Amino acid sequence: MNRFEGKVALITGAASGIGRAVSERLASEGAAIYGVDINAEGLAETEATIKDAGGKIQVGVHDVTHRANCLDAVATAVQAHGKLDVLGNVAGIVRFAPTTDVSEEDWRLIHAVNLDAPFFLSQAAIPRLLETHGNIVNIASNAGLMGQAYTAAYCSSKAGLVNLTRSMAIEHINTGLRVNAIAPGGVATTLTQTVSFPDGLDWDLIKRYSGLRGFSEASEIAGAFAYIASDEAKSVHGSIFSIDGGITTG
Ligand SMILES: NC(=O)c1ccc[n+]([C@@H]2O[C@H](COP(=O)([O-])OP(=O)(O)OC[C@H]3O[C@@H](n4cnc5c(N)ncnc54)[C@H](O)[C@@H]3O)[C@@H](O)[C@H]2O)c1
Repeated sequence: MNRFEGKVALITGAASGIGRAVSERLASEGAAIYGVDINAEGLAETEATIKDAGGKIQVGVHDVTHRANCLDAVATAVQAHGKLDVLGNVAGIVRFAPTTDVSEEDWRLIHAVNLDAPFFLSQAAIPRLLETHGNIVNIASNAGLMGQAYTAAYCSSKAGLVNLTRSMAIEHINTGLRVNAIAPGGVATTLTQTVSFPDGLDWDLIKRYSGLRGFSEASEIAGAFAYIASDEAKSVHGSIFSIDGGITTG
């Protein structure tokens, strides 16, 4: 399939996990990628993999916790590739702690990466996406659709991202712009492999949301992303697409 031939996609979190898988998938279907991350080494690996496969990618180190960096990332992507068709807000972080132990720094950082950055990147990208009848795909989480113990900041930020998606979708209902989100459950990536758990947590509570069918692969999320971001999904707008093995079915 060549659904992204001639299209330009800015993907955050492109150095690792889902962001890397999305970048590789869209590039394999013809997209020119502008890959954004704070991890320069991981970005270079993504860039090499895509270029080795004959794909088109440029990368830029931008810490998306700052609004100015979000604006700069969009401007640089448009400068590099001439336009913008897809914004993929994939970068995200999680930390586990009982609510009363969450530091102000962690609360603000988790919201800055998971919620503020998609908002500021969208603000900068929307004028460009309106020109191309493009679209935004936000990577939310099942944690944005249900309560999870010990992840108050993560749940709050992802629930915010779910309703940010819906708000931007309804606002643009009469334009060519589409806005959607994917809500994965557990996915085998660096995020889930390196997350640490403080002592004293109630594991019966964690097991309630640890997945009913094991972890998904990042490539599964990338496949759904590619469909939603493509013209095949021209009626998909304001959708929150769950890929969680059934955790949120109740
Ligand atoms: N892995 C899962 O189980 C899972 C489940 C649901 C949702 N998600 C979401 O999927 C998205 C991708 O996660 P992943 O599992 O691929 O994790 P990952 O850790 O493999 O990748 C996240 C990427 O975001 C980047 N990043 C973090 N802070 C940044 C910043 N300030 N500026 C720029 N880049 C930054 C990291 O460097 C990393 O490359 C996240 O939003 C995460 O919340 C993941």
